[in-house]
Amino acid sequence: MQSMPDVSPAKWHLAHTTWFFETFVLKKWVSAYQPAVPEYAYLFNSYYNAAGDMHRRDLRGLISRPTVDETRLYRASVNAHVSELIEGATDELLGDLEPIITLGIHHEQQHQELMLTDIKHVFAQNPLHPVFRKTSITARKSPSTIRFHEFDEQIVEIGHRDAGFSYDNEGPAHRALVLPFAIASRPVTNSEYMAFMDDDGYKRAELWLSLGWMTVNEQRWEAPLYWQRRDGKWWQFTLSGLRPVEPAEPVTHISYFEADAYANWVGARLPTEFEWERVATAQPMDGNFVEDEHFHPQPCDNDSGENIAQLFGDVWEWTRSSYSPYPGYRAGPGALGEYNGKFMCNQYVLRGGSCATSRTHIRPTYRNFFQPEKRWQFTGIRLARDIE
Ligand SMILES: [Fe+2]
Repeated sequence: MQSMPDVSPAKWHLAHTTWFFETFVLKKWVSAYQPAVPEYAYLFNSYYNAAGDMHRRDLRGLISRPTVDETRLYRASVNAHVSELIEGATDELLGDLEPIITLGIHHEQQHQELMLTDIKHVFAQNPLHPVFRKTSITARKSPSTIRFHEFDEQIVEIGHRDAGFSYDNEGPAHRALVLPFAIASRPVTNSEYMAFMDDDGYKRAELWLSLGWMTVNEQRWEAPLYWQRRDGKWWQFTLSGLRPVEPAEPVTHISYFEADAYANWVGARLPTEFEWERVATAQPMDGNFVEDEHFHPQPCDNDSGENIAQLFGDVWEWTRSSYSPYPGYRAGPGALGEYNGKFMCNQYVLRGGSCATSRTHIRPTYRNFFQPEKRWQFTGIRLARDIE
């Protein structure tokens, strides 16, 4: 099913991640390779113009064929061919294949995350409130008041520089001047966000960016995505079904506009991506990731006030940085050069991963990006402040 243009059917994700290996590995390196169904090249290309024409994104939900079984056969066949290629490869060929296969695996992790958020959006349309996975919820006391940790002015090393995998948008590594700032000890909770709602946050133009105010009014937003009022109480749809909003959990399914308006309301702002990276580089990379199988952000349980908690996992944190190229960035040649570079316009950077992200997918230098009105990812709010 496809519930909106941003959502792709689960079957499409399965086929598209397979198409990636077929297109960029098999068609390139196996001279005798014959695709069983040549039309899949058109159907399962997402946005790579250099790889040929593609089917319309907003019509993916109308593709009832291939069936799920046929899609699994396609996947099994491409897997078998890729395995055969790797097993028979010389060291030289392996050297050429390794970067593309590694990219293909990271690409697949991104689509695994999208499958969860897309299934959630599809299920949310169903008045039966389907449960993707039953999980037990333990009510917890709200974490202690947010504390702001201060950092001096510094020239900071930004971007990916070690030997492991990274996307091209994480480089080139470079230095950036970061002025004195303070950052919050944890993300904003549902109870804190409800205070903004109760104070008519959604009705006060002075708190909103112009484009955000237009969007709030057009879309008639009065709460985060998936929230609904029942008998005077707020409920939220989760991958475990419909349940009362848990006050101690980080607020999620928030647009950039809402994150910015909330920050204005409390007299703070969102962090820049450089501030965020400076702080996160010095923190352990633990958190609530998809492997924990909560499929939902969890209350902060590491909240001494001395530390900066939950930078990784739980919710993607909106930054106030536009998604733009680092100094010296140039997209690579060919179709794979389209992976990141061509989206560097009209989007904002998010950092840290979410409860739907694979633990091995995220890094302190990782840059996710979405348009400011998008809400269907597990996005949340971390506050920052200027200091003298
Ligand atoms: Fe993709």
